[in-house]
Amino acid sequence: MGLMDGKKGLVFGIANDHSIAWAITRFLRDEGASMGFTHLPDRDPERPRMERRVRKLVDDFARFVVPCNVQKDEDLDRVFSEAEQAFGTLDFVLHSIAYAPIDDLQGPTVACSREGFKQAMEISVYSLLAIANRARRLMSEGGSILTLTYLGGEKVIPGYNIMGVCKAALESAMGYLANELGPQGIRVNALSAGPLKTLSSSAVGEFDQMLKLYTTMSPLRRNVTPDEVGRVGMLLLSDATSGITGEIVHVDCGYHVMGAPPVELHER
Ligand SMILES: NC(=O)c1ccc[n+]([C@@H]2O[C@H](COP(=O)([O-])OP(=O)(O)OC[C@H]3O[C@@H](n4cnc5c(N)ncnc54)[C@H](O)[C@@H]3O)[C@@H](O)[C@H]2O)c1
Repeated sequence: MGLMDGKKGLVFGIANDHSIAWAITRFLRDEGASMGFTHLPDRDPERPRMERRVRKLVDDFARFVVPCNVQKDEDLDRVFSEAEQAFGTLDFVLHSIAYAPIDDLQGPTVACSREGFKQAMEISVYSLLAIANRARRLMSEGGSILTLTYLGGEKVIPGYNIMGVCKAALESAMGYLANELGPQGIRVNALSAGPLKTLSSSAVGEFDQMLKLYTTMSPLRRNVTPDEVGRVGMLLLSDATSGITGEIVHVDCGYHVMGAPPVELHER
């Protein structure tokens, strides 16, 4: 018996086999979940690179794979109508999406452009509201919605810049959604992952420094693995965590509790 037997869900955010959404999907699949997936729409229909990358991973078990740019209401509507046709109702949704234009992400926060700010907030934050609003209609029996965040939303992490501002807003949105959807039995949580090498994180300034910092600063003195994040992601989407909502669950080898470097790093 799997923890996700009989559960039906939607996964937003697989780009390739390094994606956190894929790490979580592997556990969801192994625990028996039925799932539909989205991929970024391909510019050239003759060479559907985005679709191919996702299909290569999920084709064996996906109920459907559809294109979706979360900036487009019609794309989101199509995904949820596909889910309704395939499943009738939904038990879980994984939101593992973030984006900021590279110049705004790598430049100082103080110089973020108006357009870059709007785009980053729309894709990284508003999309959670837009997805939750559509998901709740299909979650008549309750459900679980999970988003991905990073410590840079709670504390200043130099280099994370405008994405930190987005994560602070995302975490706040998560709490407001938990309050509004809780009476319907829908839980909303955020998993705050330690740094993992993915397509998105490669655009974050000082990312290699961040990785190094975790091996010296975190209580476990190492970085988190994709499997460690994937397993907790699956658990937060399952009934095993039925009493948890509005929570930011840190899967970061304890890094977030540190207020100063470990004593062995102090100058003597
Ligand atoms: N990698 C890390 O170190 C790390 C740590 C903590 C949190 N996170 C968060 O995890 C989530 C997933 O990121 P990842 O690291 O797996 O990278 P990733 O690049 O594999 O995933 C990001 C996803 O966002 C999707 N996306 C971007 N713009 C979109 C749009 N307009 N419409 C639909 N989808 C869009 C991409 O297609 C991609 O699938 C993000 O929210 C990220 O901030 C990552």
